[in-house]
Amino acid sequence: MDLDQLIKKVAEEIKEKKEVVAFTGAGISVESGIPAFRGSQGLWEKYDPEQYAHILTFLNEPAKVWKMLKEMFSIALKAKPNIAHIVLAEMEKKHYLKAVITQNVDGLHQEAGNQKVIELHGNGRFLVCISCYSKFLFVEEYLNIEPYPVCEICKGPLKPDVVFFGESLPEKALSSAYELAESCKIFLIIGTSGLVYPAAQIPYYAKSKGATVVEINLGGTPYTYKITDYFLKGKAGEILAKLSDYLF
Ligand code: OAD
Repeated sequence: MDLDQLIKKVAEEIKEKKEVVAFTGAGISVESGIPAFRGSQGLWEKYDPEQYAHILTFLNEPAKVWKMLKEMFSIALKAKPNIAHIVLAEMEKKHYLKAVITQNVDGLHQEAGNQKVIELHGNGRFLVCISCYSKFLFVEEYLNIEPYPVCEICKGPLKPDVVFFGESLPEKALSSAYELAESCKIFLIIGTSGLVYPAAQIPYYAKSKGATVVEINLGGTPYTYKITDYFLKGKAGEILAKLSDYLF
């Protein structure tokens, strides 16, 4: 079967079964201009995540970590949803999609119009004070503060409200993700390398509970050979645009 026939078949299955849950990673936002973490353009090529994205480094050397964060968020705060985000929002409106479970912190699913978004790694549109836990909207002006922004109430360092390495995932988000993985009929993995746990475990759970697994990615991942039923190779925006032609 060629790619187009495969996409058509997936669309037919979605129309019939409806209960889709999407599981997204950095790859879905690449067409919005945000590079993925791994790969030649990725942030982790330049900054070792075990150092720069570890909570202990942030606590000890916030200025060092903010150097990397400024680079990341100067792009992410400006980014707009692309066609892939928009098709997922349309799928939710048309009652094909139950929810998006995302590892991304860019807020683009909500901006595209998805109402039910489970954020496993937090939300980078907010800053949180690591001393008094006050929250602030992460506006671009914070990026100009040297060496790093501090809380206006207690002067503690501000940290994007995202999960760093060495921190736990938000419990409620994780349990909602598992409930969705258990109850859905189609589990749609988009643009993730499937390497970062515990989030990476969720697709395996969905498969074990009977979901059909559809994967969209530029290349194979650990899921592809283990659990993927339909592999749609290509850019998320292009594949989802074609899928929407068959769906709507
Ligand atoms: P990665 O950077 O690890 O993987 C991105 C995936 O997207 C790769 O498999 C690419 O092949 C694929 N990809 C790239 N461009 C694409 C496109 N246009 N369309 C479709 N697929 C594309 O990103 P994640 O898997 O999201 O965690 O990374 C998982 C976690 O690792 C992140 O949430 C972050 C990072 O460290 C934390 O910071 C806690």
